[in-house]
Amino acid sequence: MSTFCFCFKRQRIYVLKPGIALSSLISIPFIHTPSIFHRHYHMAAPNLLLLMAFMAVAAVVGDAGGGGGEALGASYIFGDSLVDAGNNNFLPTLSKANIKPNGIDFKASGGTPTGRYTNGRTIGDIVGMSVPIPELIPREELGQKQYSVPFLDPNTTGDVILHGVNYASGGGGIMNATGSIFVNRLSMDIQIDYFNITRKQMDKLVGASKARDHVMKKSIFSISVGSNDFLNNYLLPVLSIGARVSQTPDGFVDDLISHIRSQLTRLYQLDARKFILGNVGPIGCIPYQRTINQLNADECVALPNQLALRYNAKLKDLLAQLNDNLPGATFVHANVYDLVLELITNYDKYGFKSATKACCGNGGQYAGIVPCGPTSSLCDDRDKHVFWDPYHPSEAANVLIAKQLLQGDPKYVSPINLMQLRDL
Ligand SMILES: *[C@@H]1O[C@H](CO)[C@@H](O)[C@H](O)[C@H]1NC(C)=O
Ligand SMILES: *[C@@H]1O[C@H](CO)[C@@H](O)[C@H](O)[C@H]1NC(C)=O
Ligand SMILES: *[C@@H]1O[C@H](CO)[C@@H](O)[C@H](O)[C@H]1NC(C)=O
Repeated sequence: MSTFCFCFKRQRIYVLKPGIALSSLISIPFIHTPSIFHRHYHMAAPNLLLLMAFMAVAAVVGDAGGGGGEALGASYIFGDSLVDAGNNNFLPTLSKANIKPNGIDFKASGGTPTGRYTNGRTIGDIVGMSVPIPELIPREELGQKQYSVPFLDPNTTGDVILHGVNYASGGGGIMNATGSIFVNRLSMDIQIDYFNITRKQMDKLVGASKARDHVMKKSIFSISVGSNDFLNNYLLPVLSIGARVSQTPDGFVDDLISHIRSQLTRLYQLDARKFILGNVGPIGCIPYQRTINQLNADECVALPNQLALRYNAKLKDLLAQLNDNLPGATFVHANVYDLVLELITNYDKYGFKSATKACCGNGGQYAGIVPCGPTSSLCDDRDKHVFWDPYHPSEAANVLIAKQLLQGDPKYVSPINLMQLRDL
């Protein structure tokens, strides 16, 4: 049995410091575009680029009519800082991760920060690289890989969009108001507006019919959002005082569900069919919450976890409804809450030494107040910490989460897992 005490004590203390990147946390993710073709882009001499670009388009789209099968064409990623791969680098925002030592273990950049809010790969990165098509996957060990490109990166133009685009933004949420503390971030409505732009670019690149096939059959849409709607909206007294006075927790959760329903429906209208949605993780257990509430190592803050569970229950119902009501669409539910809670509760079983302390951070018992940056204390054993910083899992935790989502148990991923979704 778990030794967790979901105590009520001190749960209403929330520290608000402008400038602190209280990004989101734990939500969800995914899949990425395994592609040998990007290797060519990087290696090709400039005069070969055109040819290679043509081959890439032909290969990605050429067999799109054949149903799922082994090759996933692309991955389109939406959500928050758990899966942001650099969009916020291009925004004037207080939520930034392109500062050291973030990315210290990210081999593709040689340890240079990329805008990912972790020490290495996000769940989306890992899942993509794990899809077992050995001849198509440039192995990371070989230094050959291509991750989802951030929509806001000026280099994200042309054929590269057929391999997947990342729209996720640290601080972003389901509601437009979420994350306003950061001044700027992309909320879900805007992320989908951006996909609408990408969608039109695809039509231009390969023609409407092939583009449609590509989006319907060869593309996975992964959405990892919701944590910030609690952490950086509902639970922030300064910003949400009006909302909180006038809205009960259930009212707020219902609002979130109705917004995400229309967001998913918009993606469906743009031809998305294969979806995976992460629920909200145990946001009461992150180092930030444990530190500011001065909890013991075996305690989590009750209110944020209770809110997450209320939202999660309704999200699961929503996905079941959408599976029934949107013809041809499959919505996979990723139970990040239980997955992460399992890692935290039984951390030693998974080879971790700490599930409470941020590897990179400062302040209080769990280094959970000041976000990871050049002046933070940094642990030596990064792969022995569940949490990289006060809010986000380490790469080691992301690897374990990603494995479960790819091939795991129905209690963590349902009604099918990511491998099965890919092969539909
Ligand atoms: C875009 O690509 C060019 C050429 O490869 C590179 O020098 C530049 O750093 C890239 N820009 C960004 C924002 O990644
Ligand atoms: C959020 O902002 C977008 C873009 O400005 C807008 O289209 C959308 O209607 C807004 N959503 C809500 C619920 O206000
Ligand atoms: C996509 O953009 C077009 C305008 O360019 C608009 O008419 C359409 O409603 C948008 N679709 C969605 C699902 O937002």
